[in-house]
Amino acid sequence: MRRLRPRVTAWLARRYLRRTRHEGFDLSQMSMLPESALLPLKRAGLDPLPELARMREQEPVSKLPLPFGVNVWLVTGHAEAKAVLNDTEAFSNDIANVVGQTGAAADQSPGGLGFADPPAHSRLRRLLTPEFTMRRLSRLTPRIDAIVNERLDAMAEVDGPVDLVKEFALPIPSLAICELLGVPYEDREEFQRLGVARFDLFAGANASLGAISDSVSYLLKIVQKQREQPGDGLLGMIIKEHGDEIDDRELAGLADGVLTGGFETTASMLALGSIVLLQDRQRLELVRTDDSAVPGIVEELLRYLTVVQVAFPRFARKDVEIDGKKISEGDIVACSLSAANRDELFGADPESFAPERARSPHLAFGYGIHRCIGAELARMELRAAYPALVRRFPGIRLNVPLEGLTFRQTSIVFGVESLPVLLN
Ligand code: HEM
Repeated sequence: MRRLRPRVTAWLARRYLRRTRHEGFDLSQMSMLPESALLPLKRAGLDPLPELARMREQEPVSKLPLPFGVNVWLVTGHAEAKAVLNDTEAFSNDIANVVGQTGAAADQSPGGLGFADPPAHSRLRRLLTPEFTMRRLSRLTPRIDAIVNERLDAMAEVDGPVDLVKEFALPIPSLAICELLGVPYEDREEFQRLGVARFDLFAGANASLGAISDSVSYLLKIVQKQREQPGDGLLGMIIKEHGDEIDDRELAGLADGVLTGGFETTASMLALGSIVLLQDRQRLELVRTDDSAVPGIVEELLRYLTVVQVAFPRFARKDVEIDGKKISEGDIVACSLSAANRDELFGADPESFAPERARSPHLAFGYGIHRCIGAELARMELRAAYPALVRRFPGIRLNVPLEGLTFRQTSIVFGVESLPVLLN
């Protein structure tokens, strides 16, 4: 059994990586996974399942019952999740470092920061970091405002209900990433089309499987253009400053990682955060009238909704103990960020949306060396978009009962399919 286990683990990881990298984030088709493995991906309305709260209280590091002796651990406690995410000596993000280069990652495309370990991770992250400093990002503030206002103008033209996902939540992050990367205006329509195809793909197994490879070849074209004439965006800056350290394919892979990391996540936050505010008119009024309340409300929305439900899987490189549980070399560890963000650390009634609670650091952007590189950009978008929406349309309300909305089931990034609202 001990010799079979690494092979089964590698096979499982290979299937996982194929799905996440090439076929989207929906794990529901992995029929060999028992119900318990899907627990952290399910919700009751906007909330993580109560079962996760029970696990967090009784056994914050729990072994999931899986066949073939494969060991998968689910971490639901805040401190325990931090301990795993922060320990890059004991845990790897790259299955190849656990099972060898003939394992799962060897045939995968380069560029995914989330699947890389140091030193490869440090090298790629160093290239990106200067583009995500507040100083560099601040150049995007007027652009983000313009993108948001342009969307609101377009919505104001519509008679009757508007789908907030299609008209607001999807285009804002997509266009913000165009600005960040430096995608020329004439190429943006195609970029948006690919983004939406990608979003459909994330929704499940039925959507177009071509979308991800399409987007990498498209990004490769953008990179080649920038190589000839580097602009002021992220791609142009990396080419100007580090052009000889990175080839076009790797750079297209990095851009694809930025698109993957920054598009669906922010779109989901915009849509789900709007639902919370539409249900809570008092907080909606605060967002509309009090600028100083907005950052706190955004932070609480990030914690409360935790749209990235689980972190990338971590693979134990060696035997290690977390919260008294012995995790063995080759075991897979999944950190449930949504469960950890409802930890009692957040004070009384962590299950409720309460922006006035004392602020504790949440894990919605992860923790440690893989912590979200786009966190500040995401905050900029959310802080601009929610107030602008409710200021322009103070009477905005859902056009269907909450129960009539279709939420994504068992998808790593939690979200809602569509969000019909009346604006006036
Ligand atoms: C509200 C929006 C967002 C949320 C909730 C979010 C959440 C996360 C989380 C939880 C991780 C860490 C996963 C782990 O450790 O396993 C992560 C990593 C990452 N995110 Fe975000 N993200 C958001 C927006 C963005 C944006 C706007 C960008 C870029 C434009 C971005 C790019 C990335 C990248 C490249 C990584 C990998 C970092 C690394 O491995 O070093 N994300 N994100």
